[in-house]
Formats: sequence, structure tokens, C-alpha cells
Amino acid sequence: MILLLALAAAAQTIPPGEDPVAPYAQHDTNAGATPFRGSAMLRAFHGRVGIDRMTDDFVNRLVADDRIADIFKGQDIVRLRRLLKEQFCYILAGGCTYTGRTMRDSHKNLGVQQADMGALVEDLQAAMRKEGVAFPAQNRFLAKLAPMRRDTVQR
Ligand code: HEM
Repeated sequence: MILLLALAAAAQTIPPGEDPVAPYAQHDTNAGATPFRGSAMLRAFHGRVGIDRMTDDFVNRLVADDRIADIFKGQDIVRLRRLLKEQFCYILAGGCTYTGRTMRDSHKNLGVQQADMGALVEDLQAAMRKEGVAFPAQNRFLAKLAPMRRDTVQR
């Protein structure tokens, strides 16, 4: 077990600007949803460039949102930004791999409430609208993320 953890730690290099995290097993299933089939959703988000642009705007909105900003204070926003881009790109069938932790593991100590989730969804809707993502595609994406509520919100 100790050997396995040491190997996992050695394999996980820390990207520039990010803080180290405890070793964990990396797998696309950690993303918490399966990718869309086909390329319609990727096109709706304007490809990987559009996903990155939309996600940058989304994260900027999250940390500036008075309703939830305190939850993000002191957290590794560089890592969060990278992993949200990976997760969204993976789910939108952009051909990315998700290298982050599971939704349950990464949110278990945050004390996120239902209302916080509502604020996050509003910020995501605003970012998608700004990117010019068509409304039906916005809703398909939100429906994909909706089941993650049970792993991110505290009960
Ligand atoms: C569908 C909903 C959500 C998704 C898809 C999501 C996605 C993610 C991802 C991919 C990470 C990075 C995991 C990692 O570090 O390995 C993360 C971390 C984080 N999330 Fe979420 N999240 C959701 C809901 C929320 C909500 C509602 C909040 C609070 C308003 C929140 C606050 C955070 C914070 C503060 C971190 C950083 C934790 C850390 O660095 O240890 N998340 N989230």
C-alpha cells in the first residue's frame, strides 16, 4: 500500500502555480459523468478554445460572486481552473482526459449548501450565455452536471 502511494505520488507531478495534493488514483470516471456522443455539443461550445474561454469566465465569476466567494478563498484556483477545463472538455467530448479527484472527494470538506449550488449554476449559465452557447445546449450540459449535486452538496 505504501509503495503504491509512493508510486502514485511520484507519477503526479505538480503543474506550475499549483499546490501539492495528497496522492489519488486518476481516472476519467472521476469526472462524474460520461461524455456526450458525437460532436454537436463540442461545436455548440465552440470547440476546446470556446470551452477554455467559457470556463475562465465561469471561474472569474465564481470567485467574484459575493454569495459564494468565501468558499473559494484560500483554495487552489489555478488547479480548479485547470481541472474544470479538463472535466468540461472531457464531458463535452473534446478529447480531453480528466486528471482530478472525484466530485465526492474534492468537495467533502467544503460545506457546500444547496443555495451555493444554485449560485454556481447561475454563474455557469451567465458564462455560457456570454460564450454564445445556444440555449438547448446549455440545458443539456446542465442536465449532465445535475446528478453531481449529490456528491458536491453537503447533506
Ligand atoms: C456540478 C457541480 C460542480 C462541479 C462539476 C465541480 C467541479 C469541481 C472540480 C473539477 C474540482 C477540482 C477537483 C480536484 O481538485 O481534484 C472542484 C473543486 C472545488 N469546488 Fe467544485 N464543482 C461543483 C460544485 C461546486 C460548488 C457548488 C462549489 C461551491 C460554491 C464548489 C467549490 C469548489 C471548491 C472551493 C473547490 C476546490 C477544492 C480544493 O482545492 O480542495 N464546487 N470542483
